[in-house]
Amino acid sequence: MLSITFTTPEGDVLVETTMTDSDTVMEVAVREGVPGIVAECGGSMSCATCHVYLEPQANEAFEPKEDMERDLIDGLENCSALSRLSCQLYPAQSEGEVVVTVPDSA
Ligand code: FES
Repeated sequence: MLSITFTTPEGDVLVETTMTDSDTVMEVAVREGVPGIVAECGGSMSCATCHVYLEPQANEAFEPKEDMERDLIDGLENCSALSRLSCQLYPAQSEGEVVVTVPDSA
C-alpha cells in the first residue's frame, strides 16, 4: 500500500495513513477528516476545494495532470507549480511514501 502523510504548509503532520489502488487522495482525506479538504463536488472536478501541493518527487506515484485539472488550478489564488486537485490523484504505484501539503489547513 502507498503510505500518505498530510501536512500543513508549515510541515506539521495532520494525518498519516495508507491508501489502496482504488482510492483517490481526496477520498482518503475526507475519510480521515483532514482539515482543509472540503471536496464540495465529490470529485467531479468542478469545485477545486480539494486543492493540495504535491512535492515533485511524489509525482510519479500518481497519474499525471490533465488539461481540465490544470484549468481549474490556474483559477486558484494560491496555486503553484506543485498544485494538484486531490480528487484527481489516482495512484500510479502501489508502494512507497508520499507527502501531501494542504494549503488551507491552517
Ligand atoms: S472534489 Fe471538487 S474538484 Fe476535487
